[in-house]
Formats: sequence, C-alpha cells, structure tokens
Amino acid sequence: MNKNGFLTERIAKLTKNVKTMAVTCLQWGDTGKGKIVDLFSGWADIIVRGTGGANAGHTIVLGLKKFIFHLIPSGIHFDKDGKVNAMGRGMAIDPEIFVSELSLLDKQKISYDNLIVAGNANLTLPVHILLDLANEGGGSKGKIGTTGRGIGPTYVDFYGRRGLTINDLLNKDVFAIKLKRNLDYNLRVLRGYDPVMLKELLFSERLSKGIYYDSQNILNIEAIVSKYVDEYGKRLGGLIRDVDAYIIKNAGKKKILCEGAQGHNLSILHGSYPFVTPSDCSLDGLLAGCGLNRSYLDLALGIIKGFYMTRVGDGPFPTELGGKLSDDWCGGRSSEGKVDRAKELEKYPDVSVDDEDEFRQGMALRRAGDEYGATTGRPRRVGWLDLPLLKSALRWATKDAALTKLDVLNDVEEIKICYAYDYQGSDYRYGDKIIRRGDHLYEAIPAAEVLQYCQPIYNSFPGWQGSLAGVTDYDGLPRQLREIVEYVRNQTDILPRIISTGADREETIFV
Ligand code: GDP
Ligand code: IMO
Ligand code: MG
Repeated sequence: MNKNGFLTERIAKLTKNVKTMAVTCLQWGDTGKGKIVDLFSGWADIIVRGTGGANAGHTIVLGLKKFIFHLIPSGIHFDKDGKVNAMGRGMAIDPEIFVSELSLLDKQKISYDNLIVAGNANLTLPVHILLDLANEGGGSKGKIGTTGRGIGPTYVDFYGRRGLTINDLLNKDVFAIKLKRNLDYNLRVLRGYDPVMLKELLFSERLSKGIYYDSQNILNIEAIVSKYVDEYGKRLGGLIRDVDAYIIKNAGKKKILCEGAQGHNLSILHGSYPFVTPSDCSLDGLLAGCGLNRSYLDLALGIIKGFYMTRVGDGPFPTELGGKLSDDWCGGRSSEGKVDRAKELEKYPDVSVDDEDEFRQGMALRRAGDEYGATTGRPRRVGWLDLPLLKSALRWATKDAALTKLDVLNDVEEIKICYAYDYQGSDYRYGDKIIRRGDHLYEAIPAAEVLQYCQPIYNSFPGWQGSLAGVTDYDGLPRQLREIVEYVRNQTDILPRIISTGADREETIFV
C-alpha cells in the first residue's frame, strides 16, 4: 500500500463513528493546525473555521509548495472534491484580506466553488485596524504585541453592541447607518490620540494609503461605504450564507471538521490575560464560533508541539530559552530593533541546539523549527514544553492529542520538560489561598500577574540522535523520544493519537 493509502486507512481508524471533530492548539498558537486540518480534510465533508481572523497564519505544505492561509479554512485544497469550506460566525473578517486571499487562490488555480462565509461573522473595519495599530504604537505602555490586524477592536465593538457583520456588506443603507453609529463612538475615542500619528497610520499600506483619510473627521464615511459595499460586497456577496443554519442542519449527519485558530493560552477566557487574543480560541469557543456545542463533538485533537513551545507577541513565558533577552530580541526591543530571520542569521550565523547559552540555544531551535510568524514574520519566542500550562489547558480540552514538530528536536543532546513552577513573586492572594515565594505549582494559574513570577523546574531527558524521516509507526520512533512521550502522558493523562515528524502530510505517524 502506498503512503497515501496507509494514511487514509489510519485516518479512517481514528475517525470511526466520528461525525464532528475539532482541531485546537493547546499552547500559544502555531502548533501546526493547518497541517492537521489539511490532513483530515479528505475525511471531512465540511471544514469550518470558528475563531479569530487574519491574525492567524496556517501553513500547509504539499510537496514543494507552501500555502499560508489567514482567513480561508485549511481544507480549501479539497474544494475540488466537493468539500464545503465555511467561515463561521465567531470569526473577525477583514474583507480586504479575504478578497486578496481569493485572488491568490485564483492565481494558484485552487478552486473555491463551495466556500461560504457566515453573514453574522464580525466585520473588521478600517477604524479597527487604525485603533489596533495606534494602541500598539506610539510608545504605548499597555502593549500586547498584537498582529495589528484590527482583531481586538473588532471584537470590542461586537461586545460594545456597535459591531458590523459580513451580511451588512449586502445592504448599503443598513451598512451606512451602522457605520455611522459605530464611528460616532470610535471617532470620539480616536480624538484622544495624536492626530499626526493617526494620519501617518492612515496613509500606511495597511490602511490602503490614505483612501479612508479625512482631514476634518479622521475617517471618511463615504469612502468606507463605497469600498466596503460597492467593491468588497460585490466580490464577496455570492459567498455569504446562513452558516449557522447550514452547520446545525448537517451536524451529526455529515462529517464536520472544526478548525481552531490561535491557541488555548491565547484565549480571552482561559489564556494569559491580558496578553491574549480577544476571541475565545479554546475548544468550547471554537465550537461556539462554528455554531455548535460539545454535545455534537465526537473527537477533539489538541495540538502540542513536541517537546517545546513558542509564543509570538508579549506576555509571560516561563520556559522561554534566554528569558528576557529572548523576549526583548524577538519583540524588537534589543539594540538591533526589529529582527527577522535574515537579520538573525546575519548577526548569529553559528548557533547550536546544544549551546550552553540558552538565548543562542533558543535561536537555534527557532531556526531548526522555522519558527518565524506566518502572519507577521516576527521571530517566535521559543521555550521547553511547559506541563503546568498544559495541565491548565487540559481542564477545558479533551485528552486526545497530536504532538507536532518532533523532528525539530533531532540531535538535541538534552531535552528539558518543565513539570512544576517555583513561584518567585511576592505574596499573592488567590481567592481563599495565598501563593507565597518558594511555593511549587504543578498546574499553572495562567493570569499574567502570577505566570510572570513562575520559574520553571525541569526534568531532563537524553535526546535522540538522527532523523525521524521514513518512520511510519510509533514503535519505530527512537526509544528516547518514546520515553519522553510516556513521561508527558503520565504527567498529564493525554492520549497521543498523532505524532508529526515533518510539515508534509506524509510525515505523520498514528499512535
Ligand atoms: P498553525 O498556526 O497552528 O497552523 O501553525 P503555523 O502554520 O503557524 O506554524 C507551524 C509551522 O510548522 C508551519 O510552517 C508548518 O508547515 C510546520 N509544521 C507542521 N508540522 C510540522 C512538523 O511535524 N515538523 C516540522 N518540521 N514542521 C511542521
Ligand atoms: P495561529 O492561528 C500565534 C497573538 C499575537 C499577540 C496576541 C494578540 O496562526 O496559531 P491579536 O492580533 O490577536 O490581537 O494579538 O495573540 N496571536 C497569535 N500568536 N499564532 C496565532 O494564530 C496568533 N493569533 C494571535 O501575537 O500576542
Ligand atoms: Mg500560525
């Protein structure tokens, strides 16, 4: 049997009796959701994304070709087979990016005949991007390190009950009335910002080089209506549907694959608040954003990088290799300013995964794992697998897991796993408890005010030497690797179902 046939058989075995499955990340995003969703898209009838917007970057590698999707679901390569790809109500959709992704599909001759988008999904407006960029720039203190895609303000307006929806693109009068109401509020907020900075931002590439600028009112309402309704509405109109009704009608009947975005630790409800994304990207948030709930769920795969993790943007990261040095470097706060892969390579041409210096070791792992943002190109901060955080994520997930990127640790001499924290902050009242300096925590309290004072306590394991290429079953994996999997399983009760040893579909082992 060829490798593809073998994969299909293993997928069929894992999904026996499954009608609804979900793929979420149990870390800080970028764990390989794109790869896993693409892998299961051949099984599914419907692939639906439920959370986030163009802050996501989901990569799919097919042979020598690499595709990165920000909004469009990762099952789009199966459109030609009649699979429906849906963008759910929980998403925040920037029509400009949506239209540019469609153009890219056209260029690459990838069909999207069955792509649909929920009319009640949140619409990202120019004012949202402007607010996001203004909040993050100008030396602001409360920086989160967002992707600058307007995601925060889009959801804030939704909860503030002044949001617009994708369906509003279809009704010019409604759009104009709702936009005016929205801007009545947001322009008052914007008047508190430096007008020179706002003008500069409005003339940036990201905001279409000034087409929305108004010298009196900051934003030109007519220009927005015209671009959004006359241009984007026309282009996207044919894709807009009642996705809620479609999903609920097919739930339990057709095979539905829910594609998560971001990661549990970035969830507004469960993550390292306030350093989170504004949607609930946990399993429950994903299901809600797809128009479903747990009662429909048959299988959820939580993705975990084996045995490391990454974070893009600001916020505490207890196991980060190189600590503050790495945080500042990746966040563009070192004397080098903003860095990317090329600059890093030029400045540090020789770094090793076994370097004694953790900052350099982290950089070597970043390079080995190609850990540079799929959306922003920022270097991802890298650290060892953190079990206290994983345990806290597992409270809200199921035990079924996919471990990805194991090949990145090939040839690392010593692999460390954080199994507890040593709390080093001042006394902290946590409800009816007090957390004191020197306390050991075995499950994370994700709030930033606690997490930032947590020092990792590690167990060390010998790594494996050599490549994982060509390994097709669990028993064929190096003993050292399996021992670490067993340790993680014992500590957390996860059930590893998949081990990914490369970016390609074929590089997948079913446990
Ligand atoms: P997502 O946001 O969770 O979809 O993940 P990203 O696409 O942002 O980042 C994951 C990166 O790892 C992508 O470049 C994938 O192609 C790649 N990838 C996925 N699985 C594996 C794997 O098992 N090994 C390696 N080396 N790369 C992988
Ligand atoms: P995928 O789906 C990694 C992070 C940002 C920032 C924080 C808030 O590819 O895993 P936002 O722009 O959402 O307001 O930024 O969330 N973030 C992600 N990090 N992967 C993602 O998506 C992310 N989406 C948002 O870096 O720290
Ligand atoms: Mg990503």
